[in-house]
Amino acid sequence: MERIAADIAVLGGGEAGLAAVVRASEMGARVVVVERAAQLGGACVFTGTLPSKVFSISAGVYELLRKIANFGIKAEGGFALDYKEVLASRTRITRCDQGVIGAHLRGPNVRIVRGEASLRDERHLLVRTPTGAEIEVEAPRLVLATGSRPFPVPGLPTDGRALLSTDELVDMPELPARMVIIGAGVIGCEYAFIFRTFGVEITLIEKLEHALPGQDGDIVAVIEKEMKRRGIRFLPGTMVRNYETGPDGRPAVTTGQGERIASDKVLVCVGRAPATAGLGLEAAGIALGAKGQVLADDRLRTSLPGVYAAGDVLGRWMLSATGILEGAVAAENALGGDRLLDERFVPSGIYTQPEIGSVGMTEEAAVAGGRAVIVGTCAYSGLVKACATYSFMPGLIKMIFDRGSHRLLGAHLVGSEAAELIHQLSLALRLGATAEDFAFSIYHHPSLSEGFREAARDALAKMK
Ligand code: NAI
Repeated sequence: MERIAADIAVLGGGEAGLAAVVRASEMGARVVVVERAAQLGGACVFTGTLPSKVFSISAGVYELLRKIANFGIKAEGGFALDYKEVLASRTRITRCDQGVIGAHLRGPNVRIVRGEASLRDERHLLVRTPTGAEIEVEAPRLVLATGSRPFPVPGLPTDGRALLSTDELVDMPELPARMVIIGAGVIGCEYAFIFRTFGVEITLIEKLEHALPGQDGDIVAVIEKEMKRRGIRFLPGTMVRNYETGPDGRPAVTTGQGERIASDKVLVCVGRAPATAGLGLEAAGIALGAKGQVLADDRLRTSLPGVYAAGDVLGRWMLSATGILEGAVAAENALGGDRLLDERFVPSGIYTQPEIGSVGMTEEAAVAGGRAVIVGTCAYSGLVKACATYSFMPGLIKMIFDRGSHRLLGAHLVGSEAAELIHQLSLALRLGATAEDFAFSIYHHPSLSEGFREAARDALAKMK
């Protein structure tokens, strides 16, 4: 059996694992990364974040083209969506991302091992390569970054043809005429808007009373109204009771209320589960939580000395964004650092149409936590930049301030560029900004960011 020795081994070559590799290599360590797939990048690059963003960008451009006359431009030849080209653009952008990844990993001290790994003990990984050979990797430090998998609905086994998981959706070769989406969380809502813009008839089924659980209620209200305006049929408070495929291979679901909905594809997006099965983690002494997630402390140490964890496997945020930070922190601490993971101000970006950006407390959570708050709002319709560019989309900025200190507690945006704008508010929260800071800062005019001044002024006026 081949044996490879390193200073640190990273199990999983997705965003979190790669961030760990890069940080460890920067620190001068010899690193081995083990990945079962043929290429590095994981769910972010191949099935999740990146492909869905490519689709969402195409949908946004398509929508903008439909409004092109607003900008004084005539498109006399017309334009049309070519879904095959959308898929081709995804392949191009994936290659581009792989180039970026490759550039980060170049260096004599990084070794990539392809194969399926399991843990023998805290120092040894056993890797079975695609040819059936076995390799033993020995390293005194290990970062677990094996990611997550789509969560199945009991009784609805996805088959990749009629009933799709989100992993399978991104390779769907043609646009269906009709699609049922089960689960109106982040993924379900993003795809509902994307495929609706592409012309697909969408029914979105959600067991709870509202879409996007955890998001601020006023923001969700804008999105639900926009679903209706765009012809997305949203069925809240609904479970799927039965699923069948007809003789023509087309699927149909029957809801708990007894309605039978025939479709061409059914997409299941009811959450993701940490990928920890079959790795030998518990046998090696690593504590797992009830959802199978690896338990780790605020320095990303697991219960087994020398073993750290990062990314979706922690079952916390399940975002590439947090995985990138966690990977770097885990590697740094594994190699003798003492960096505390600070995830108090995670900016969330949801690529619906319009986008959502949020950070910090929702109004509901602040009030439930006994805080006295003042809420300031600014509608996009009150911003000249939004009138000039995105007048066809609704938009709302909502900022929540502490009534006593005037400090920002949370901010929730729905509107164009919201997922980009939210970064300034994440930084503002981190720095302890107050309503006065926003009200008396200088913003370009016209800009969307001016909305922060206006929302803060609205809050200050209510504090008088
Ligand atoms: P999710 O947890 O966001 O939403 C799942 C939804 O399905 C919930 O609304 C839930 O009530 C509903 N549901 C569960 N069981 C159901 C059933 N049997 N019938 C009907 N509805 C049911 O999970 P999602 O959307 O699959 O996303 C997985 C993870 O990926 C999340 O942690 C999400 O934050 C992350 N993600 C984040 C993105 C972003 O930030 N832009 C993009 C894509 C994914």
